[in-house]
Amino acid sequence: MKIADIKIPGNILLAPMSNVTNLPFRLMCKKYGASLTYSEMISSDAVIYENEKSINRGMSCEEERPLGIQIFGNSAENMTEAALKIEKIYQPEIIDINFGCPAKLLTKDGCGSALLRSPNLIHEIVTGLVENLSTPVTAKIRILEDMEKTLEIAHLIEDAGADALTVHGRTRQQQYSGKADHSYVKKIKQELSIPVIANGDIIDETSARQVLDYTECDGIMIGRAAMGNPFLFRRISHYLEKGEMLEYKECSQRITDLREYFGLLEEYDLMHTVNIKAQAQWFTRGMRNGRHIRRSIASSKTIGEILESLDEMCKHAV
Ligand SMILES: Cc1cc2nc3c(=O)[nH]c(=O)nc-3n(C[C@H](O)[C@H](O)[C@H](O)COP(=O)(O)O)c2cc1C
Repeated sequence: MKIADIKIPGNILLAPMSNVTNLPFRLMCKKYGASLTYSEMISSDAVIYENEKSINRGMSCEEERPLGIQIFGNSAENMTEAALKIEKIYQPEIIDINFGCPAKLLTKDGCGSALLRSPNLIHEIVTGLVENLSTPVTAKIRILEDMEKTLEIAHLIEDAGADALTVHGRTRQQQYSGKADHSYVKKIKQELSIPVIANGDIIDETSARQVLDYTECDGIMIGRAAMGNPFLFRRISHYLEKGEMLEYKECSQRITDLREYFGLLEEYDLMHTVNIKAQAQWFTRGMRNGRHIRRSIASSKTIGEILESLDEMCKHAV
């Protein structure tokens, strides 16, 4: 897939996820086959006011490229100013605009999915970025209940010069409940000329294949199913390429990944930014003997103890 002049080495993308997609996690997804990774969303205002913690979310390294940095905001002027700063600091391959987040923290200020009610402002924001940046600009939206209105927004984003569009097939009201409706995504793909990426409820090999086949989108983007499970990208890439499931040992794979993730957090001095036990729970989610694992993580006092008890459990797993 190509976004503007940027060659994306595949069509499976990691979704931007606040408090999840830090650099160590993105690096692991990349290693396992994610073709493009996006930073956690960054507040434009925080960038303008030079809030270091927010700006650091764009931190990357050569190994990760191509990199997308996502911003949110509520004014074309501020978002353009913030994007120009980000462009200068990090030179990402892509800057993405968040028009999809339904969290109150954003929508109460007219950011994220609240903008879907203001098509003119969306047009102004995309135009502002496209006209002032040399970096390709992409956008991420949710669907509206009304198909025509959803198409109108998608066209308007394309007309304003965006280089790709990601569509999460849920409405703002749905938050994360119900099922993603990919019929909207399919229709948008049929009507737009820029690459369209389908997002929502892609959780494994078969759902990845189904969504790609059904929507005929240029790419798919995976969010929650990848949390604590970067290896999912290897499984899905393998299946899409070869048409068969990858054989692997789930227990030892998950623990190897958790160990590597902790190592990377240390390497990039980010250990203090995450809740270690919560991360360990994510990395072991869905594993057999879940209750036992959760209890053992909760009672561990150090990372060493967590890994040791998981190793022990793994010895008894099939
Ligand atoms: C914990 C969490 C944080 C998220 N943060 C962001 C974000 O920063 N920017 C964004 O555009 N979407 C964000 N999302 C939405 C995801 O990118 C994605 O659109 C959504 O989870 C649907 O995809 P999925 O069904 O594969 O999870 C977040 C979702 C979750 C669960």
